[in-house]
Amino acid sequence: MKEDTDSKKWFNVEYVPKDYIFPKEERPENLDTPVCDSIPVIDLSKSKSVETILMASRELGFFQVINHGIPEKIVTDAMSVLKEFFDMPSKDRTGIVPHKKGYIYTNSTDYAKDGVHLWRENIKHPCHPLEECIHLWPEKPTRYQEVIGAYLKEIQKLSSRILEMICEGLGLEPGYLEDTSEVSLLSSNLYPPCPDPSLTLGILPHQDPSLITLLYQGNSTGLQVMKDSQWINVGDFPNAFVVNIGNQLEIISNGKLRSIKHRVVTSTHETRISIATFVNPSPDCIIEPAKVLVNELEPSRYTASQYKEYVKSSKAYGDYTVAIQNALHS
Ligand code: OGA
Ligand code: NI
Repeated sequence: MKEDTDSKKWFNVEYVPKDYIFPKEERPENLDTPVCDSIPVIDLSKSKSVETILMASRELGFFQVINHGIPEKIVTDAMSVLKEFFDMPSKDRTGIVPHKKGYIYTNSTDYAKDGVHLWRENIKHPCHPLEECIHLWPEKPTRYQEVIGAYLKEIQKLSSRILEMICEGLGLEPGYLEDTSEVSLLSSNLYPPCPDPSLTLGILPHQDPSLITLLYQGNSTGLQVMKDSQWINVGDFPNAFVVNIGNQLEIISNGKLRSIKHRVVTSTHETRISIATFVNPSPDCIIEPAKVLVNELEPSRYTASQYKEYVKSSKAYGDYTVAIQNALHS
């Protein structure tokens, strides 16, 4: 076992510690599920990509994008600085300062449910407006703010582009989604190898409360999506970003696009590092089905609510995310 404080007591263990074992009914079954070939890999340099994005967002709510224009070095630097962050002793990684719009590191307090821990290390922090948030992020590793700042600038561009394509595909006016959205939260996870993946979970099944989420997962696996009541593995594809439709966009699209349940399972041999960036509506937005998508044949399926209120009441991410979101926007 590594020498560290007790929040890493579950690294390099031979057996899964008791407080990481989920009750039987919540443990992942059938871990050998197939890789999902119905999650399309969309080449953004090709013309037809609007159609394929729309089709994927309708059917599965998930797709991957390649040739997205984000320089490889920006992504590999972000991955390596996060790895350095997670490698630091946990005392250097802990900070809960929501009143200062700061970052949150949780593991020792990261109980998923009924006192069972998730098999992951996590950091979350707000990202919008970038210039205001960046100084509140971790100061160690020293490159953290610069490298993650550069990564987020690229993510902002890519998310704007994808939102514009979705607007076009849905028949919404340009800017309908993009003008009132922001890349507001980064959540990065490190999932260490686990001696018995059948007992643990990296992330519980959930839907994202975002408009869309952009996820980089390097060359690792473990992300599963629910398709036709079955868990299916999202394959790893070099340099791709996984994009999924969140609850807000499902509402705005009046249910045409789907926010799908997903989770992360652990591996005996692989360390997974993921960077999730959540593109959310601006806090004061009223979220409701777009008027042009509602008619007599397709009446509105969702009630309008202010995004701020939704976030306050949302338990989808547990109280920490809600707390930090509230801190950011209040
Ligand atoms: C999330 C999520 C997947 C991952 O943070 O919402 O689904 O691989 N993350 O970390
Ligand atoms: Ni998610």
